[in-house]
Amino acid sequence: MQDKINQYLAEVEAFSASGNQDTENFRIKFLGRKGLLNDLFEEFKTISPDQKKVMGQELNKLKNAVQQKIDSLQQSTGPVKSSQEGMDLTRPTGAVPYGSRHPLSIVRGEILDIFSRIGFTVADGPEIEDDWHVFSGLNFPPEHPARDMQDTFFIRKKGDNGEDEMVLRTHTSSVQVRAMENQKPPIRIVMPGRVYRNEAVSARAHCQFHQIEGLYIDEGVSFADMKQTLLYFTQEFFGKAKIRLRPSYFPFTEPSAEMDVYWGLQTEADYRITKGTGWLEIMGCGMVDPAVLSASGIDPQKYSGFAFGMGIERITMLRYQIDDLRMFFENDVRFLKQFS
Ligand code: PHE
Repeated sequence: MQDKINQYLAEVEAFSASGNQDTENFRIKFLGRKGLLNDLFEEFKTISPDQKKVMGQELNKLKNAVQQKIDSLQQSTGPVKSSQEGMDLTRPTGAVPYGSRHPLSIVRGEILDIFSRIGFTVADGPEIEDDWHVFSGLNFPPEHPARDMQDTFFIRKKGDNGEDEMVLRTHTSSVQVRAMENQKPPIRIVMPGRVYRNEAVSARAHCQFHQIEGLYIDEGVSFADMKQTLLYFTQEFFGKAKIRLRPSYFPFTEPSAEMDVYWGLQTEADYRITKGTGWLEIMGCGMVDPAVLSASGIDPQKYSGFAFGMGIERITMLRYQIDDLRMFFENDVRFLKQFS
């Protein structure tokens, strides 16, 4: 028995494998159910008790040597897989299909890209906001209808200790206020984000949607600068060459305007979406009200600026001819897959 053990020890010592399969065969030869070690243990049962003591130690020495050999071989050739599995993890797979971006993300990215080319950077703010940043800091009088329960989701009423009322922001203009409080002019930012309004969900309205806001404040910024910036955006995004500014009202801008794009009246669809006028309303805009500037600590004698804001859903619906706003929030893959 001692001879066999010595012979096997030498064999184990000398063994080298050229791949997983070699190692596996080696393992089966020594440690398998009908392997050499089992044979030796069978033989071990038959020897005399005083021999057992020595032989037991010798057998264990062999067993450990085999196991160590297997461990070190596996380190260099990878773990041995049983032949039944037949799995080769190193084989290349077929092509992994690409997912697709959400249409709102595609359009947001395009808009940010267009403004980044003329020096605008991206700013961000919280969706749960205090009254100051959503309304008061933007010159909304206390009785303004936008604060009405029908529009705003209230999170927390005004506290007894004077804590401000908390709301879900109804527009991204709140980020303007934060930016003006924290940065010194020149400020040139675009602010995309989700906003909330307490409205019934339909094909044209939703209780959550997305806006993108722009703000530019510096010395001597004029209405003409605003018009040129918005014209540039329209040309880049829609490929349309004509805009018009209609007088409008927002509490935080003066003067205020709605910007329309001339869409044209080439096709039947053009008549439908422009209601036969050829014009489409795209965004609200205006010169930042001096009262808003000074409320955020910017000197209106020295600085002026403009702001604009638009709904990302609306623009995406125009871009891809989507008729129902709810599509954006249902995450139906059949819808989403069309935008890869
Ligand atoms: N905050 C306005 C809205 O939600 C849009 C707007 C932004 C108008 C900036 C003017 C300037 O309707």
